[in-house]
Amino acid sequence: MPKALITGITGQDGSYLAELLISKNYEVFGLVRRKSQLGYGQSEHLKERVTFIDGDMTDTTSLVKAMTISSADEVYNLAANSFVASSWNAPDSAAEINAVGVTKLLEAIRFVKPEARFYQASTSEMFGLVQEIPQKETTPFYPRSPYGVAKLYGHWITKNYRESYGIFACNGILFNHESERRGAEFVTRKITLAAAAICKGRQEVLELGNLSAQRDWGHSEDYVRAMWLMLQQDEPDDYVVASGEVHTVRDFCAVAFERAGMALTWSGEGLDETGTDKAGRVRVRVNPAFFRPAEVDILFGDPSKAEQKLGWKREISFERLVERMVDHDLAAN
Ligand code: GDD
Repeated sequence: MPKALITGITGQDGSYLAELLISKNYEVFGLVRRKSQLGYGQSEHLKERVTFIDGDMTDTTSLVKAMTISSADEVYNLAANSFVASSWNAPDSAAEINAVGVTKLLEAIRFVKPEARFYQASTSEMFGLVQEIPQKETTPFYPRSPYGVAKLYGHWITKNYRESYGIFACNGILFNHESERRGAEFVTRKITLAAAAICKGRQEVLELGNLSAQRDWGHSEDYVRAMWLMLQQDEPDDYVVASGEVHTVRDFCAVAFERAGMALTWSGEGLDETGTDKAGRVRVRVNPAFFRPAEVDILFGDPSKAEQKLGWKREISFERLVERMVDHDLAAN
């Protein structure tokens, strides 16, 4: 029975990945940071199937222990401060967890089980002020947030341990991926929760920042399959994982509100832009408080390498992603 250690198991991707690995008969271990309230986040339902290990990405001893206890054949590093906007408020912490934490985990692997295979959750946020459209593995990086800068370090240290020590280490450069389990602060879930709440009469209006930001959105369930595939290859490598489609935040709102039974009409420009329902009520408006100090205007990935070399293909379309999220939020609230 192969053994896997997942950091970040309480999050969206960690929970879908744990489900995938359990379905493939892995013994799954998950690193969990102790908080004042005990809980396993999105993996609560997997409590009986996963062995949780107390640990912290800023604490080398706990990572060495996690490697020793699990003796993992595959290590998936999904732990991160993943909300880009808050990285301006806590830039040190972004660096400690998303950058130096990766080195700590790689060192733990190197000392305890150097033959273990390692997956690093790299990100399209590293492309930032994009140098090329669409972005692929060879596109130069230009991060635009403390989060992106820290992730770039994690990316390069992963490559470096591959080249320095021969560790089977891969970077998955994943573009935005969402789901019914997405945190409420990310724009997609903020929209689908609001569409549901407005539809049920519990909220009047949704306030957003930059409606023109463009993203390449896929479903997390599809993307965790790519993570696993990377570690099954003969050679370690880095891959872009993306849908190959781009949509604006405005587009996402339009599809989500339509699904919730409220087609929107858009008018105005910039800070005055609004989305209005059939009865003339403003349902979406812009609030500059949600703008970022430096914005990433467009992320649009080219997944050709992952499709050709890994045989990976996304199965859940943009429309289906939005529908699943809205349907879930309508049913739950
Ligand atoms: N969160 C949020 N809230 N974003 C908003 C809002 C709002 O009210 N209004 C507009 N946006 C815009 C943001 O400015 C950004 O351009 C876009 O919506 C997407 O924001 P997020 O959903 O917060 O995601 P992200 O693209 O910043 O980061 C996500 O994707 C990265 C991969 O590219 C996160 O999952 C990162 O962890 C991941 O690395």
